[in-house]
Amino acid sequence: MKVALAFSGGLDTSVCLRILQEKYEAEVVTVTANVGQNPEKLKKAEEKAKELGTIKHFSFDLSKEFVEKYIFKSIKANGIYEDYPLSTALARYPIAAKLVEIAKNEDVDAVAHGCTGKGNDQFRFDTTIALKAPDMKIIAPVREMNLDRKWEIKYAKDHNIPIPVDIDKPYSIDENLWGRSIEGGKLEDPKTEPPEEIFELTSAPSEAPKEPQKVEIGFEGGTPIELNGNKKDGATLIKELNQIAGKHGVGRIDTIEDRALGLKSREIYEAPAATVLLKAHKGLEQLVLTREELKFKESVEGLWSDLVYRGMWFDPLREDLDAFVDKTQKRVVGKIKVKVDHGSATVVSRESPFSLHEPELVSFDKFGFDQRGSASAIKFQALQGRLYRKLGE
Ligand code: ARG
Repeated sequence: MKVALAFSGGLDTSVCLRILQEKYEAEVVTVTANVGQNPEKLKKAEEKAKELGTIKHFSFDLSKEFVEKYIFKSIKANGIYEDYPLSTALARYPIAAKLVEIAKNEDVDAVAHGCTGKGNDQFRFDTTIALKAPDMKIIAPVREMNLDRKWEIKYAKDHNIPIPVDIDKPYSIDENLWGRSIEGGKLEDPKTEPPEEIFELTSAPSEAPKEPQKVEIGFEGGTPIELNGNKKDGATLIKELNQIAGKHGVGRIDTIEDRALGLKSREIYEAPAATVLLKAHKGLEQLVLTREELKFKESVEGLWSDLVYRGMWFDPLREDLDAFVDKTQKRVVGKIKVKVDHGSATVVSRESPFSLHEPELVSFDKFGFDQRGSASAIKFQALQGRLYRKLGE
């Protein structure tokens, strides 16, 4: 049997590689993708895969695709599930899609991943595989063998699998351009405050620079294209903004999340750039979209984020919803200033050629329109209520 394994080089996927060889008697092809982590990691994963006897290793830098085809869509849809800007969720799709592509090219008998049976990533992998290769067999050794971390660490030691140096830190960490997630260990207890040591992208808000900083984001068609007046490609813009906002302590999220299976889980995220960009984007939409559009779009955003969280990126409904979102984004053009200051990010200035804000009409200082007309509009608003009250209720 020949299997293509999504391989990050972490504990789960390293153990899976060996289990696939030993227990499933498979020859394993490994696929590693970069979605904006430290590029060192790609090299390390490749070395490890070779050490563990991969028959062929594939390495891909998917950062550009991740930003342009996934993150930008999520900004347009104001993608947030509960309090979570969907960083891990979004990144699983280009990885799973690549895995399927390699599986087809290499003519394998099955694809494999290292997801556990408790989390959301299994939904994202399995559903993407099912939608892109309906007859493909899926092997998920950690889930199938009901493994836990302790067992995996012992197995790794017994089988000479090099395990990451930070293995005594009990946290499970996932990182990409759009954010970093920290779970597990003592964080599993919702009573426990997150210790400062878990954070890497953000300063403690109390340690942030004294002076606030303003960042200006330029949008075109709902997509951020400029940072402080300079045109940037998406990955660079997000990286630079992660640094600026992170330094000011922006983007720490500590929340109880409802996983796809219904489990409640304590989640900590750092997402400085995502926090600023989502606020800026929403700030611009408030200026240019009509009240009715904003209201309807909010319900679309909720549905969109749910789909993305639960593994259904490649479901036709996500594309249908994006058709609506894309139409609204034509006018989401302009500049937004966000002030970052000791952990907060606040929109302080907005401008757009498509602004629906009319100073002449709304100003306290100007005549604008004949106010007397308002009274009759309001009278009709109360029409049915008045009839109801007259009944003596
Ligand atoms: N709760 C987040 C999600 O479902 C983060 C998951 C992190 N995944 C991981 N394998 N550590 O997207």
